[in-house]
Amino acid sequence: MKVLVTYFSQSGNTEKIAKGIFEEASKGNQAELKKLEDVGAGDFAGYDFIFIGSPLHSANLAAPVKKFLTDIQAGSSPKMAGFITHFAPAYPNQDMDGFVEPIQVACKEKGIAYKGCFDCQGALTESLHEMVQKKLNLSDEQWAGMVKQMTGHPNEDDVANAKAFARKVLG
Ligand SMILES: Cc1cc2nc3c(=O)[nH]c(=O)nc-3n(C[C@H](O)[C@H](O)[C@H](O)COP(=O)(O)O)c2cc1C
Repeated sequence: MKVLVTYFSQSGNTEKIAKGIFEEASKGNQAELKKLEDVGAGDFAGYDFIFIGSPLHSANLAAPVKKFLTDIQAGSSPKMAGFITHFAPAYPNQDMDGFVEPIQVACKEKGIAYKGCFDCQGALTESLHEMVQKKLNLSDEQWAGMVKQMTGHPNEDDVANAKAFARKVLG
C-alpha cells in the first residue's frame, strides 16, 4: 500500500506525531513523509491512504491544511485520516467534531473514505504564552498550572497513541 503522511507544523509538535505515524505506516507499506509546503496539489494523487496533520489555530485547522483540503483532487486516494495537536488539555467531543468537519466534508466531496482523526496535546510555543494567558484571562497561578500540564507534549505516550491510531485505521 502506498501511504502519504503530510502535515503542517510551525513548532514541531505536529511533526513529531507525523513522524510516529510515518514510522508505523512504514511497516509493510511504501510510506512517504512530506511537509505540506513541499508538495503541490497535483502531488497527492496515486496514494492508497493519506494522513493529513494540523495544529489547531484559533479553534480551526491551520490555513495551509484548509487549502490542502480544498485543493486535493477527487479520487486522489481512496482513504484519508487526520491528526491534530492543540495546547488545550482536552476538547469536548462536539468541539473536536467541529474541528475535523472540514476533513470529513472534503472527503465526502472528493469520494475519499474518511477513516477518523487522532488528536493530542502539543505545548504552546513560549513566545505566545503571555498573549494567550491574557486572552484566556487566566491568573499567573492558573496559567502556571496550564503550562505545567502542556509541557513535554507531545510525549512518548502521545506518539505511542498516534501509532496505535495509525495501525488501526490502516487495518
Ligand atoms: C496562531 C496559533 C493559534 C493557536 N490556537 C489554538 C487554539 O485555538 N487551541 C489550542 O488548543 N491550541 C492553539 N494553539 C496551539 C497549537 O495548536 C499547539 O501548540 C500545536 O501543538 C502546535 O503545533 P506545531 O508545533 O506543529 O505548530 C495555537 C497556536 C498558534 C501558533
